[in-house]
Amino acid sequence: MLQVDNVSLEYRTPERVVRATHRVSFDVHAADRFVLLGPSGCGKSTLLKAVAGFIPPVEGEIRLDGRRVAQPGPDRIVVFQEFDQLPPWKTVKQNVMFPLLASRTLGRKEAAERALHYLDKVGLSKFADVHPHQLSGGMKQRVAIARALAMQPRVLLMDEPFAALDALTRRRMQQELLELWDEVRFTLLFVTHSIEEALVVGNRIALLSPHPGRMRAEINSHAFTLDSLGGAEFQGTAQRIHDMLFEEETGEAAA
Ligand SMILES: Nc1ncnc2c1ncn2[C@@H]1O[C@H](COP(=O)(O)OP(=O)(O)OP(=O)(O)O)[C@@H](O)[C@H]1O
Ligand SMILES: [Mg+2]
Repeated sequence: MLQVDNVSLEYRTPERVVRATHRVSFDVHAADRFVLLGPSGCGKSTLLKAVAGFIPPVEGEIRLDGRRVAQPGPDRIVVFQEFDQLPPWKTVKQNVMFPLLASRTLGRKEAAERALHYLDKVGLSKFADVHPHQLSGGMKQRVAIARALAMQPRVLLMDEPFAALDALTRRRMQQELLELWDEVRFTLLFVTHSIEEALVVGNRIALLSPHPGRMRAEINSHAFTLDSLGGAEFQGTAQRIHDMLFEEETGEAAA
């Protein structure tokens, strides 16, 4: 469904060119929970931005349903790490409705209905009329997820969406995301630098090498859930991934 084909991405500043990823290829299938895992600076966020259509590849091509990705579109919605991605002057419901209205996907009444539907799915029906500053970090992330899902994108893109949460909330959000996926079966491209989170959230994991990011390996992780945490097989796979990340640049992969 989503094909990242031999994609190299660069940042150009007047002084120099920074290569963020080098000839990365992977295919995301419908209803995959595909994880990009790699050390800080390996180009995960850059790849996600390229899939979202914000950065054109200098080499290779990104295709969604066979069509080349050339610009942002409502078929690819990003949920970021930051809690402040919600305009504070809009209520929770208005926040979820906004992209639906702005993209003219739905009229006001239908947008409100769909917003409430997805707010219910993330357990926030009761908070539809409050403003974001009245919510915890985890709740704000739920609103951002509801807002993204309400657009019913072909691919939901998440860039370390739980990284700024405390450990317990993070665990709960991972659990909820999996439950939500069970219900809605969306296609997910998820970025993290946590091996554990990758194993729990993903069914497939692309392992990227340190800067510039190259494909190191693809790992099948569909067998693991939150219940597998601490189990022997889980630990073994986590260790194997850890070793692969460490093979080259010992210091950097520790981050
Ligand atoms: N706007 C920019 N201008 C120049 N270089 C950049 C820019 N943004 C990122 N880079 C460089 O591109 C590389 C990849 O950055 P990117 O943010 O994609 O990494 P990442 O894998 O998401 O890391 P992290 O886990 O820390 O979020 C890094 O070396 C970074 O320094
Ligand atoms: Mg990043």
